[in-house]
Amino acid sequence: MGQSKVAVVGLGGIGGVAAACLSLSADNEVTVCARRPIDALTFDHKDDSVSIPLRTLTDPQQAEPVDWVLLCTKAQDTASAAPWLSRLCGPETAIAVLQNGIGHTERVAPFVRGAAVLPAIVYYNGERLAPDHIRLRKIVGHDLLVPSGPLADAFTALFEGTPIEVGRSDSFLTLQWRKLLINVIANPVTALTRQRLGVFHRADIQELSLGILREAVSVGRAEGAELAEDEADTILATFLGYPAEAGTSMYFDCIAGRPLEIEALNGAVVAAGRRHGIATPLNGAMLALLNTVSDANAAAFEQP
Ligand SMILES: NC(=O)c1ccc[n+]([C@@H]2O[C@H](COP(=O)([O-])OP(=O)(O)OC[C@H]3O[C@@H](n4cnc5c(N)ncnc54)[C@H](OP(=O)(O)O)[C@@H]3O)[C@@H](O)[C@H]2O)c1
Repeated sequence: MGQSKVAVVGLGGIGGVAAACLSLSADNEVTVCARRPIDALTFDHKDDSVSIPLRTLTDPQQAEPVDWVLLCTKAQDTASAAPWLSRLCGPETAIAVLQNGIGHTERVAPFVRGAAVLPAIVYYNGERLAPDHIRLRKIVGHDLLVPSGPLADAFTALFEGTPIEVGRSDSFLTLQWRKLLINVIANPVTALTRQRLGVFHRADIQELSLGILREAVSVGRAEGAELAEDEADTILATFLGYPAEAGTSMYFDCIAGRPLEIEALNGAVVAAGRRHGIATPLNGAMLALLNTVSDANAAAFEQP
């Protein structure tokens, strides 16, 4: 079998780690689609640091159809990546979506010309130390998790022999909701308070978090996720074991004045709640407040 042609769209923490790891396998021919040209990436993992040459394109017109696209932008940047997706996707292309939230297939469908879509839950931590320098930190057993099936098997093969471990699951929807449950408290609360995870040791923040979580659990169950009655308490208890000094991506985006991924997180809970007639006032409050921050950040970002 020849090499798999793989394009990674978005060279941030997650795309940078994915591009570096995929490049470590001789079975892949990797192209990075980014807004700035980067010829090599310094990749840190455990105590190692290696320099990995990259083929980077900055103009979608230079792109051609590939076997696999890995979409690694933030969810709110999906539409802006449309010029890349329409050039990279042909009849034989599959696209893996490495983004937080739910509804990955619906999110990318308008842009991928019928390509098969594989949603992925990202469990690794990818940190961009500089535009050309990234660090992988493994958090749990699997670094990426995808729904079982033939597409999942082909995707797993891309990462064989690399530090990234891909898991396959028949309970993808439930696991996706569990990840979303962490995100609907971690991200908005740290962003609004401008404090790291230590803020969750306050009793009032725990009470608020339980309220947000209970709404999200009701909605997730209505969507078909197998979440326990006391899932909210379990999630919060697990969460309190995380390092107090850790930040979240929305916290860092907020501090840096960047647009926020709130629509894909609490916004997804509010939208699904509406579909099922379930009230989600606390998630709605997080959404309204952080959409306001995000819009102001986006407006400032767009100014010359
Ligand atoms: N980082 C983590 O540890 C982590 C963990 C779990 C899940 N996730 C999820 O993974 C997804 C990616 O997160 P991330 O942390 O990698 O985000 P990130 O560091 O902000 O990187 C996103 C990258 O996408 C690029 N981009 C945006 N629009 C683009 C476009 N139209 N064309 C080309 N490139 C474009 C950005 O380019 P610029 O640099 O030019 O802005 C940036 O390099 C998010 O959904 C996030 O919630 C992240």
